[in-house]
Amino acid sequence: MRSDFGRTTKGEAASLYTLKNRGGMEIAVSDYGAVLVKVLIPDRDGNQQDVVLGYDDVAGYESGTLYFGAAVGRIANRIGGGTFELNGRTYALTQNDGQNTLHGGTDYFDKRMWKVEEADDSHVALKLYSPDGDQGFPGAVDIRVTYTLTEENEVKIHYYAVPEEDTILNLTNHSYFNLSGHASGSILDQEVMICADAYTRADAESIPTGEIVPVEGTPMDFRSRKVVGREIEADYEALIFGQGYDHNWVLNGSGNRYAASMYSDKTGIEMKVYTDLPGMQFYTGNFIVQEKGKKGADYRRRQAACFETQYFPDAVHKEHFEGPVVRAGQAYDTVTTYQFSSQTSSV
Ligand code: BGC
Repeated sequence: MRSDFGRTTKGEAASLYTLKNRGGMEIAVSDYGAVLVKVLIPDRDGNQQDVVLGYDDVAGYESGTLYFGAAVGRIANRIGGGTFELNGRTYALTQNDGQNTLHGGTDYFDKRMWKVEEADDSHVALKLYSPDGDQGFPGAVDIRVTYTLTEENEVKIHYYAVPEEDTILNLTNHSYFNLSGHASGSILDQEVMICADAYTRADAESIPTGEIVPVEGTPMDFRSRKVVGREIEADYEALIFGQGYDHNWVLNGSGNRYAASMYSDKTGIEMKVYTDLPGMQFYTGNFIVQEKGKKGADYRRRQAACFETQYFPDAVHKEHFEGPVVRAGQAYDTVTTYQFSSQTSSV
């Protein structure tokens, strides 16, 4: 179902597409930024909870700077020094995070109108044409992001793109989840598990050093479910640099697999993350200072967590990190699934 979502400052009419399944789950996606605006799921008492942070209309998304629900590209996360080389040429990008590039550079994908190609009650497919030189990256590319809501309560996000020239691509979704409800406050009492034996160490600017560090014996160990707040204030380099969790975990295994989960004991809502990508940035909203959100919500620090599946940050400068290079005519084709349930005995 399509509804109006307001007009951008340029006068473009934005829409909201609502998808529903028979189990009572509902999600909403806008063609502005291909953002995931709502994820509604009945909790264990049957009350509908919206578990993602966001805004009421397009104006909020236009002025927001936190990437709520955003489709992030061309390269999610950071590129050290805001420059990279491909096929012997050097490309200069926007330096929008110190001297580094974050989430593609300031001409963000989530600040553009996407074209809706298909929409029904269970899916919406959005397309963005990114020309040669867009954000400084080579090669024109048509990017398609498809959101599907299944009867198994999965929100499936499929990214598909075939560049005309060799380029680099690393798209992600930047939803901020709070499984007690988007306006319920801190997530420090919610439980998280990450199927990763290691994480990529990063410097004070969040650029990976290249080291793969085992999580064993560190506060980064989420191999067994634990509350987010248990060690977040530990005197540990990564947590000091990130002001909390804001790192890329090296997901175990390969192919489409179970990567992480989050659980709220207040609502009984659990989310499981599946992906075919090698890494995932787990970010605990450390830099949300104060943000007005949906229905008057007042979002603050650590009131949500992001599970941004991706190639490792700065992979373009690290030979041993699986690369984001996509050759001309080849498909960049990846799926990440967020699956919800609200049983008390989960996992
Ligand atoms: C980054 C954070 C950043 C946030 C956006 C995350 O992907 O890792 O450092 O603050 O995006 O605000």
